[in-house]
Amino acid sequence: MTFQIPRGTQDILPNVVGKWQYIEKTAREICRLYQYQEIRTPIFEHTELFLRSVGQTTDVVQKEMYTFEDRKGRSLTLRPEGTAAAVRSFVENKMYAHPIQPVKLYYIGPMFRYERPQSGRFRQFVQFGVEALGSSDPAIDAEVIALAWDFYRSLGLKKLKLVINSLGDQESRTAHREALIQHFENRIGEFCTDCQTRFRQNPLRILDCKKDREHELMQSAPSIIDYLNEESKAYFQKVLSYLDDLGIEYEVDSNLVRGLDYYNHTAFEIMSNAEGFGAITTLCGGGRYNGLVEEMGGPNTPGIGFALSIERLLAALESEGVELPTSKGIDCYIVTLGEKAKDRSVAILKDLRDHGVSAEKDYENKKMKAQLKAADRLQAKYVIIIGENELEKGAANVKNMESGIQEEVQLNQLSTFIKERL
Ligand code: HAM
Repeated sequence: MTFQIPRGTQDILPNVVGKWQYIEKTAREICRLYQYQEIRTPIFEHTELFLRSVGQTTDVVQKEMYTFEDRKGRSLTLRPEGTAAAVRSFVENKMYAHPIQPVKLYYIGPMFRYERPQSGRFRQFVQFGVEALGSSDPAIDAEVIALAWDFYRSLGLKKLKLVINSLGDQESRTAHREALIQHFENRIGEFCTDCQTRFRQNPLRILDCKKDREHELMQSAPSIIDYLNEESKAYFQKVLSYLDDLGIEYEVDSNLVRGLDYYNHTAFEIMSNAEGFGAITTLCGGGRYNGLVEEMGGPNTPGIGFALSIERLLAALESEGVELPTSKGIDCYIVTLGEKAKDRSVAILKDLRDHGVSAEKDYENKKMKAQLKAADRLQAKYVIIIGENELEKGAANVKNMESGIQEEVQLNQLSTFIKERL
């Protein structure tokens, strides 16, 4: 009997894992520059957490969660996103009382959504996300966007588009909500059953419907931008002017509503406009969520963040033809001739590694020619050849595989010799 990997998941095999490591390293470095600290939360949480934060009427909660009962009958859910847990932890650990505010967090880890798998859409995917909690300065909105932008740029992506909108504050949203109700009220029967539920619970979600996208009422629906009160407008203008200062181009799109319920004020997405990039062009999504901390039982605290998946980033890199500078090959391979040399190579290998030299040897009793081939395959920079004659002299031949130059080196000098030349 053989097994297959579950649909919508993937193995990240050793030949590509270098790219993942490089990307993760870049993410950590950019977070260090921007002073965001890593937080690691559990892979599963109480289901209620997501119902309350992500929102009952969202696709994520209604259709996409991996929810199960544990042995005590408690409902748990594999996290579909990272904001809810970051906020839960912020409240639970009283980070709001920390002397330095905002508290700036980042995470890298797997998320789970039961979606229809297609290119760029997985059931398990890895998000890199940041959350800044405790400041409603529009400069922090610009900072969060700039962090994502810099991250993509530093990896070599060029064909990016930032789309931004404001969803306004509570007052603006209530006015908009009423306008939406009036707009759809008489003809809601023409919409799918999901939209009819959304109409009652959260009419803004109707604008996010994939089925009824083409309905004429969708095109003419009242836009939030016309319902922003003065304060919300001024806030949005300030965010945009900071983006101008940072030299980050954007497109204001009043139809951008995002798929999760906790947003207000700034909402944004970074898309790829590389030719041939799949149907799903959103690489990164985020926004402000003032009120969520309070909803989770904490004090009134503003927040903003974003998340992006490594899977979609890799697809964007591929469609732009960007090669990541991942390290290739090992430093050194030991080729041995005869039993004595083979025995001796065990300690030599250890000594090389102790000196920080990545090194490998044969474990299959291969002939010399096959060992050299293995060294080639591993793209070894140096090959150490130990034969019977060399061994008697307490030496080995070291070959630089790039130049082809071969030198005799004393066995006790091998590690320093190679280390110095790398
Ligand atoms: P989201 O828009 O649901 O937002 O997801 C953010 C990003 O996660 C997407 O832009 C995409 O790159 C990636 N993503 C989502 N679903 C999948 C999937 N099925 N397969 C591959 N990649 C996927 C959030 O998750 C919010 N928590 C973002 C946020 C943080 N807002 C504020 N703070």
